[in-house]
Amino acid sequence: MIIEPRMRGFICLTAHPDGAAQNVKNQIEYVKSKGANNGPKRVLVIGASTGFGLASRITAAYGSGASTIGVYFEKEPKEGKTASPGWYNTAAFEKKTQADGLYAKSINGDAFSNEVKQQTIDLIKADLGQVDLIIYSLASPVRTNPKTGVTHRSTLKPIGGTFSDKTVDFHTGIVSTVTIEPANEEEIENTVAVMGGEDWEMWIDEMKAAGVLAEGATTVAYSYIGPAVTEAVYRKGTIGRAKDHLEATAFTIAAKLADIKGHAYVSVNKALVTQASSAIPVIPLYISFLYKTMKEKGLHEGCIEQIERLFSQRLYTGGDVPVDEKGRIRIDDWEMRDDVQAAVAELWKTADTDTLPQTGDLAGYKKDFLNLFGFDVAGVDYAADANEMVEIPGLQKTEA
Ligand code: NAD
Ligand code: NA
Repeated sequence: MIIEPRMRGFICLTAHPDGAAQNVKNQIEYVKSKGANNGPKRVLVIGASTGFGLASRITAAYGSGASTIGVYFEKEPKEGKTASPGWYNTAAFEKKTQADGLYAKSINGDAFSNEVKQQTIDLIKADLGQVDLIIYSLASPVRTNPKTGVTHRSTLKPIGGTFSDKTVDFHTGIVSTVTIEPANEEEIENTVAVMGGEDWEMWIDEMKAAGVLAEGATTVAYSYIGPAVTEAVYRKGTIGRAKDHLEATAFTIAAKLADIKGHAYVSVNKALVTQASSAIPVIPLYISFLYKTMKEKGLHEGCIEQIERLFSQRLYTGGDVPVDEKGRIRIDDWEMRDDVQAAVAELWKTADTDTLPQTGDLAGYKKDFLNLFGFDVAGVDYAADANEMVEIPGLQKTEA
């Protein structure tokens, strides 16, 4: 069928399989162009189908020839109804890796559940024995804690006071003022329960107990800091509390892995257009100024450039892993450069609907957003009939 983007609010209801495949191919080509790195051979990526997690899986497979297992939560296609984008990304990745003789299998289900953890451990035992790297890259608005049965929902709110600043609706380009009331204690706790480190620690505990962590295994989760203009709603807001918890959990996990000479890190990544970030107020406006500035300075990176740099210049250099004063890996170093932030802060002051198309990279934002769903990708014929019923070659069947 002919597949077109159908927008609703911050999401797109359709996805294009051929555009997704082209995106994956472009990322693979990028990693190959950088040459082999000294990276891991057996890798589990939790949150492997889009954004930073997909880039991690691609970098492991094509940077160091790794066997990869991916865990994700995606909607499968039905006749006349497209799958969610991560389904098509994974289908393209596993088709290509299998053709290239690389092991790639995956599990589609709720990573927060006991069942998916057990299924993943069983698959590692059966096929790989152990893993050397575990990437934790989930972004979710909801989590059911398998121990308590309680379902937690996250919120994106400031803490301690009302927040008010500029924001943009990137579909219309209209800049307006958004006002968000502060979160209460319960909302803070729920957000930490969803996006903090508790589930990451559960994964590592269960994998260690099952003996599927190799000696010297490394685990990495992704965090964000960002500038002063987003601080009240991001780093000092509810989501920031969750990231504080995630970062603290890295130390808890590292201590637990000491006896197998393992490591646990948080990597602070750059602000990028993903399904997760486009739902956060103020961030899209910041990203449009950031993209404009970083592109002008020749510093712009997408997920794949970020993660390739994480592997080749931070994690697998053969030497110590460089970290900041809080023990975090920083690949947001170019975003946070003084000259970049000074330029963005200047642009921020001028932000309004009339000038944004010139002062901000709204066009780049929109293109990246469409690209997430496989649309507006160069080299794809969108007038051609596309097959929505794509299968994922390495998808593990589960009993319903
Ligand atoms: P994303 O939405 O592109 O990816 C989320 C992944 O999690 C997908 O693979 C999805 O299928 C999976 N997922 C969600 N819920 C799941 C569940 N219940 N079970 C199994 N899989 C599930 O998001 P992203 O932007 O790549 O975010 C990944 C991490 O990177 C997050 O921790 C995020 O905070 C962090 N990060 C993002 C940015 C940014 O600007 N996008 C910057 C720095 C750090
Ligand atoms: Na991800």
